[in-house]
Amino acid sequence: MKHRFSAFEICPAVCAAGENYIICVPTPVPVLMSVFIAGEEFTNDFCGVKISSTHVQKFTVPQALLDRAKKYTVVYEIIYREAYSSKKEAPVRENFAFQPIEKTDDIRIYHLSDVHGRKDPAISAAQYFGSALDLLILNGDISSSSQTVEETLLPLKIAFYVTKGQKPCIITRGNHDLRGLLAERIDEFYPLDHGLFYYSVYLGPIRIMVLDCGEDKNDDHSEYAGTIAFHKYRQKETAFIQDTVALQGREKPRSDRYRFVLSHIPFMHTDYDPQRGVHEFDIEQDTYSYWVKLLNDNWKPDFGLFGHIHRIGMIRGEAKFNEKGFAAPIVFGGKPLDDDVFGCAIRLKDNRAEISFNGKDCTPVQKCYIMF
Ligand SMILES: [Fe+2]
Repeated sequence: MKHRFSAFEICPAVCAAGENYIICVPTPVPVLMSVFIAGEEFTNDFCGVKISSTHVQKFTVPQALLDRAKKYTVVYEIIYREAYSSKKEAPVRENFAFQPIEKTDDIRIYHLSDVHGRKDPAISAAQYFGSALDLLILNGDISSSSQTVEETLLPLKIAFYVTKGQKPCIITRGNHDLRGLLAERIDEFYPLDHGLFYYSVYLGPIRIMVLDCGEDKNDDHSEYAGTIAFHKYRQKETAFIQDTVALQGREKPRSDRYRFVLSHIPFMHTDYDPQRGVHEFDIEQDTYSYWVKLLNDNWKPDFGLFGHIHRIGMIRGEAKFNEKGFAAPIVFGGKPLDDDVFGCAIRLKDNRAEISFNGKDCTPVQKCYIMF
């Protein structure tokens, strides 16, 4: 062997997407890795060939299996891959407890977005609920670009430092995550549901529709130099929303106690000023208006949860930032400010949401309530 790699700390994040958890484990060196749950082995392979040279090992496991087992084991072997007779180091193994959302009420969610690289303040702010946290949501723009491996790994790193691999997370992508050298390889670093960043997910009594607007300007904007093609992607996403609301929107009674929409970009916002005319951020008006109508008429979320505009607080009804008329209360839950970042603590209990906004010292700076 020409050189030897060192063992490293296993830092998994258990991300909910669709009906599965995607267990994501950053790996600084080439490894063969497996996850074991209730005696079943899950491998990271492409059509039978195990993947070793990747920045993140990802394992898709059924939620129901891990929810029952409440523990999993990660095993890796550092590998020096050759055409024949590859060499391996001794296996490293670590067990993790897992706490699914089994409660039917009193669910505690912490939401962060737009951290823009403020790792330590973000981890501190997300301690708001302490060990009582049930779900962590990282809702895009956690870094300011996907230019480097370190930046692109930051959501998974924060997820691990907050949850220790023991609580479920949801990690979405923001528009800044689509910029930089690694943006075209972002599927290596993020949890997806069957290759897509939009999906719906059940966690205990909650159903969440996770939507993905992609970039915030049109595909032909000069800033992108022709590197993006989101218009058709959003059209496919419209079909997903249509299908989802058709399946779940007319359930009587609803099979979930709480339901909300999650998206980095608040697509109900039209940044139009008659004095100024059309703005470069005013995109996909017909598509986004139709999304709002589908959700209002057929899915009826209890609230919407968004980032991107660097604000914290809640609005209802017709207001600035809701020009398209999203019918449910809208929560903005991510605000970077100097060396701090403000996130949003949501407690769902007794058919209401108690929402607090806090920075790194975990002291609420605002509170609001939604009655369902
Ligand atoms: Fe953003």
